[in-house]
Amino acid sequence: MKEGFSKLSKQEKIDWVLKTFFKSGSKDSEILKKYWNDDKSIQTIHDEFAENTITNFYLPLGVAPNFIIDKINYTIPMAIEESSVVAAACKSAKFWSKRGGFKSTIISTTKTGQIHFKFNGSSKKIETFFISIKNKLEDSCKEITKNMNKRGGGIININLLNKTNSIKDYFQIAVKFDTVDSMGANFINSCLEQIALTFEAEFNESNIFNKSDKLKIIMSILSNYTPECVVKVELKSKISNLKSKDISDPENFAKKFVEAVEIAENDISRAVTHNKGIMNGIDAVVIATGNDFRAVEAAIHAYASKDGSYMSLTHAKIENDEFVYWIEIPISIGTVGGIINLHPMVKWCLNLLQKPNSKQLMSIIGAAGLAQNFAAIKSLITSGIQVGHMKMHLINILNSLGADEYEKTKIIQYFKANKVTFNSVKTALKKLRKNEL
Ligand code: MEV
Repeated sequence: MKEGFSKLSKQEKIDWVLKTFFKSGSKDSEILKKYWNDDKSIQTIHDEFAENTITNFYLPLGVAPNFIIDKINYTIPMAIEESSVVAAACKSAKFWSKRGGFKSTIISTTKTGQIHFKFNGSSKKIETFFISIKNKLEDSCKEITKNMNKRGGGIININLLNKTNSIKDYFQIAVKFDTVDSMGANFINSCLEQIALTFEAEFNESNIFNKSDKLKIIMSILSNYTPECVVKVELKSKISNLKSKDISDPENFAKKFVEAVEIAENDISRAVTHNKGIMNGIDAVVIATGNDFRAVEAAIHAYASKDGSYMSLTHAKIENDEFVYWIEIPISIGTVGGIINLHPMVKWCLNLLQKPNSKQLMSIIGAAGLAQNFAAIKSLITSGIQVGHMKMHLINILNSLGADEYEKTKIIQYFKANKVTFNSVKTALKKLRKNEL
C-alpha cells in the first residue's frame, strides 16, 4: 500500500511508478516525457484536469467535411483511434450532401435530478407537507440559479414521487432543469443538495409529523438518463436517387437496408453491434467537443432499452418510393462550461463547428451517429465490412511490422488490387525486402 501518493511531485510519482512496476528504467521514463507538451502553460492545464497526471495520452483528431445539417455545411472534428471511422463519416456525408443532407428536430432539452430519501410515516402526510414547502425548496436555490435564470434556464419544476411500491419507505424529490448551453452537471447537483438541505430543515421544524416519523436523505444526484433531452436526425431520398458508384440497384439496396435495420430492431446480438457502430461516430464528436462521453454512452444505451428490450437506435422504412431513415437519441451535452473553455483543442473544434449552441451540437452529434450507421450498413449489405476495414487497417499492420516509408508506399500500392489480411501483408513485406514483389 502506497500512502500519500497524491502529495508527491509529478517527478516523484513517475519515479515511484517506474521503480515499482518497470524493469528497464530509462526507456520507460523517456516515453512518458515524449508525450509532455513543450508549451508549459498547455501542459499545466492538462496536469490539472485530473489527479496524479504523469503524462498525456493522445488520440488522433480527424475531420470529416461535407456534412450538410439543416442546410449548414459543417466539417466535423472526430477524436478516435479506430481506422475507418472518419473515412466512413466522410463517405456518408458526401453521399447525403448530394441528396438534401441531414434534417434535425430537437424533441426536448429537459434534464433531471433526484433526491432519494426514505420516510417511514404516512404517505399522505409527506405529500401534504411537500406541497406546503415546495416553493421554499425552489426559493432556497435562488443564489445558485441566478445566472442560469439570466441565460434563460433554471429549475423547471419540483415534484414528489412515491416509490414505496418498489422499495419500502422510498420517495424521490424529482427536479427538472433547463441548463441552456451547459451540460449542467455541477449546476444540477448544487441545486439538488441545497433542496435536500432545505427539505430536511423544514421537516425538522414541522409539527405535523409524529415522533416515530423519520426522514432519511439517502443521496442527491443528477440522472444521466435523459429521455427528455432528445434529438431526431433524418435522411430521406427518392429510392431511384440512391443510385451511385456503389449502389447499382437502388430498389434492392433500399429493401435490404430496411431489412438489416429491422434485424437490429429485433435481435440483441445485432442491435449491440449496430449501436456500437453508431457510437463510433457519436463518441468521436463528443470527445472532440469536450463533453462527457461516459454520460452520453450510458444515456443512449439505456434509451435503446426504453421499450423493454435493447434495440437499434436507428430506424428505416420505404414510403411512397422514398427511403426514410432516422436516429432518435438522448444527448445531454454542452457548449459552455466544464473543460470546454479550458482545453485548447476543444475550443478549436468548437470554432471549426462555427461555435454551435447546445441544440446545434446535439444535431451535429446525431448526424455523425447516423452517418456512421449508414456507412456500416451500406458496406455490410454490399461488399462486406472487411474490404474497407482492412484497407484502412493496412497502415497499422505495416507500422506493427516496422515498415519504413518506402515500404509503406510500395505495399499500399500493391494492396490496391489485393486482399488485405495480416498474413498477406507480412508475406508481401517479406517479398518486397527480397526484391521479389
Ligand atoms: C465496427 O467498429 C462497427 C461495425 O461493426 C458496426 C456495424 O456492424 O453496424 C461495422
